[in-house]
Amino acid sequence: MSDRIYLQRCIACHAEFDLDKRLYVCSHCDGLLDIDRREEIAIDTASLSELWRTRKSSLDARDRSGVWRFREFLPFADDVEVVSLGEGNTPLYDAPRSADYCRLPQLELKHQGCNPTGSFKDTGMTVAVTQARQLGAHFVACASTGNTAASLAAYAARADLPCAIIVPGGQVSHAKLAQALDYGAKVLEIEGNFDVCMNVIRELSEDGSVYLVNSINPFRIEGQKTVAFELAEQLEWRVPDHLVMPGGNLGNSSAFGKGFRELLQSGLIDRMPRITVVQAAGAAPFARYYADDSHGAFVNEQHPKTLASAIKIGAPVSWPKALRAVSETGGGVITVTEQEIADAKAVIGRDGIGCEPASATTVAGIRKLVSDGVIKENESVVAVLTGHLLKDTDYVMQYHSNSLVAPDNTPIAGNFANHPIKTSASIDSIKSVLSAS
Ligand code: F0G
Repeated sequence: MSDRIYLQRCIACHAEFDLDKRLYVCSHCDGLLDIDRREEIAIDTASLSELWRTRKSSLDARDRSGVWRFREFLPFADDVEVVSLGEGNTPLYDAPRSADYCRLPQLELKHQGCNPTGSFKDTGMTVAVTQARQLGAHFVACASTGNTAASLAAYAARADLPCAIIVPGGQVSHAKLAQALDYGAKVLEIEGNFDVCMNVIRELSEDGSVYLVNSINPFRIEGQKTVAFELAEQLEWRVPDHLVMPGGNLGNSSAFGKGFRELLQSGLIDRMPRITVVQAAGAAPFARYYADDSHGAFVNEQHPKTLASAIKIGAPVSWPKALRAVSETGGGVITVTEQEIADAKAVIGRDGIGCEPASATTVAGIRKLVSDGVIKENESVVAVLTGHLLKDTDYVMQYHSNSLVAPDNTPIAGNFANHPIKTSASIDSIKSVLSAS
């Protein structure tokens, strides 16, 4: 049934393909694929938003998922058997210390790290693995800097599908690897960075023996776009002036762009937020491309470098979709330094929220945008935190003990460091520590 309503369409040459055609890019021109409705439908926005709200109190697993709750916008028949871990429904936090740090009166953080495996990947993976089952795939696989791997491993286990993940050896945080191992994935560590892993997995999936679920797969984007729906709902369908997110392989920014575009087209919102993507300065091919007004060929970064290992990516596959999201919303693409990421991360922690390093590019970026006058004091701003604080505790411990060193060997100052304090077990010495400022 969904096949009649939806299709896959190339964003470059507009070639159309049925949904059950197992493709990752256009078979004519290699362009990225969108999943679109064959024709627009009229929507009663008031009753649809009311239906979505009431589903939250239902006991149906699909209604309790923050992704499948919005299934009127997902390319599946209503009775599809979903592979879900109760993803989505993540908090939107008020973050006064982070706001202060950015010199804003208010800042809200949408914490995607509160998903079942601790990152935003789950919102896309529930849909991609559901589609894998629909297609009768026997093996699912991805390349990953760690979070996609953890997420796929979990959803594949739920679907009882064998799964392989390809990761850059020695470059993935132990927490993320531990998740993938525990969920039973075949973990292949290869020599080379994420971009090498991505090339290998794309080649591996060409003969159809494995189903690829990196964000080049348009079904991943369908799941991730629902975060825009959830965010708009949390803001009572008022759109923030600015939405800021980290950029690595650029699936997330592509998905937010698509989500807000669909909300606008259907009349659920009346404008788009300005989407800004923030990259680490040492892994910023998209920022470089965007800054070059000639918009010539996209040049990959051969040796991406950042301690924010989740976004250590030099050849982002989804850049054309991300470019569309940024351009059509009047947003931008900027970079932040390793020191700025580390400090912003510690400040987000002080709000009692915390996140992994890649996510902190957002608050670091917002601070910069405010000081450059791009974000005005009276504008509303939401930052998307993509991963949980516990995803990379080595980084946290090193920052707080002043031993974090950037990839170019520059020491990172622990400007907001909070050292552990060694003390004797005597009440007097503990009291003296507690009373010290
Ligand atoms: N933040 C975190 C925590 C991530 O894990 C990633 C990507 C990003 C941001 C960037 O998102 O790629 O959609 O632009 N991690 C991927 C992975 C690449 O394999 O886990 P993006």
